Amino acid sequence: MPRLNPLLDRLSEYPVVELERRKQAVRDRGLPLVDFSVGDPVEETPDFIRQALLASVPPRCGYPTISGSSGVREAIAGYLQRRFGLDLDPQTQILPTAGAKEAVFHTPQLVIDPAAEDRVVLFPDPGYPAYQRGALFAGGEAVGVPLSGDHIFRPWLLPAELIARTRMIWLNTPHNPSGAVTPLSDLRRMVDLAQEHDILLVCDEAYADLYEDQPPPSLLQAGMENVLVLHSLSKRSGMTGYRSGFLAGDAAVIHRLRRLRANPGLAAPDFVNAAAEAAWSDDGHVAERRAIFSEKRRVLLALFEELGLEVLGSQATIYLWVKVPGDGDDDAFAARLLQDGVVVSPGRMFGVEGAGHGYVRLALVPSVEEIHAACALLRKVLG
Ligand SMILES: Cc1ncc(COP(=O)(O)O)c(C=O)c1O
Repeated sequence: MPRLNPLLDRLSEYPVVELERRKQAVRDRGLPLVDFSVGDPVEETPDFIRQALLASVPPRCGYPTISGSSGVREAIAGYLQRRFGLDLDPQTQILPTAGAKEAVFHTPQLVIDPAAEDRVVLFPDPGYPAYQRGALFAGGEAVGVPLSGDHIFRPWLLPAELIARTRMIWLNTPHNPSGAVTPLSDLRRMVDLAQEHDILLVCDEAYADLYEDQPPPSLLQAGMENVLVLHSLSKRSGMTGYRSGFLAGDAAVIHRLRRLRANPGLAAPDFVNAAAEAAWSDDGHVAERRAIFSEKRRVLLALFEELGLEVLGSQATIYLWVKVPGDGDDDAFAARLLQDGVVVSPGRMFGVEGAGHGYVRLALVPSVEEIHAACALLRKVLG
């Protein structure tokens, strides 16, 4: 065995891997699986998106460019204009990615100098696990900031000494796992902080289009300098398997990112970009998906109210962040549900320093019909 990077063993297994194991255990016992775990909903990718991909597979498919096709960049610019009223230059301010996760993992490499004293990457805790991992593999000091009850990240309240050592801040609104939405007034304060301290501020907006009532704002509406946003087609358009997203914002940062990403050759294939172009150009299918997730949310919220379970945030995303009753042991609670074939994520999977304990996350993955059917089982197990 070669000598390995000790980080691999220091970090726990990536949550998706552990959740896949739990799902397999249910299948092995021959139980019907009720899967609320990984955020990979069962609804089909709209047909026009699949057709756009199929029509774009050429007899010979060469290497894709790091910048992606001008068609997909223009479609993204059109989306940002329709959705947020933003005017971005598709040539200089938009960069397609192979999904959002790889961008979460790789972007810290743009700013982190592993030998520097100031190499902190801040991120919300609980939060999407890849923020911590990308920062650590880049050689940064990963600092999860515990969120208080409303799950809004307010880095301007942090000690000046920590901010002085910070090179990058991740925001995430709407927030995974809680579903909380950060208001524009708070986003403005974050932009001021980043510009004052030469910090790269990146807002992960992977769930921007999956909301209940009010469309959540974008960080780019609060400012552009030192600022990027990250979007994804995975949940918006049902394209988890396509691996398609984009970074957009400060042209100077995008320019340097292109240079960084040319090293590993990070780029979405052209036929995926063709499908992405179709998806970003259309809002109708997103409204349909929003209605489906709303219905799933409504059914489960009614059940949890009936059972006296408390649900936090939940203004957006495809998740419900549920307080564990009794002793608050999220691991034991998830294990109890697993016995009956119901897979949920223990909240601790989203935390670094104990954040997330006492909660479980339910992803609105099963179909509306399956969720209706699962209510009887949940009532039996939790009632
Ligand atoms: C907050 C957040 N960011 C990014 C991602 C990754 O998205 P993608 O499927 O585009 O890699 C996820 C996926 O669950 C997520 O929850």
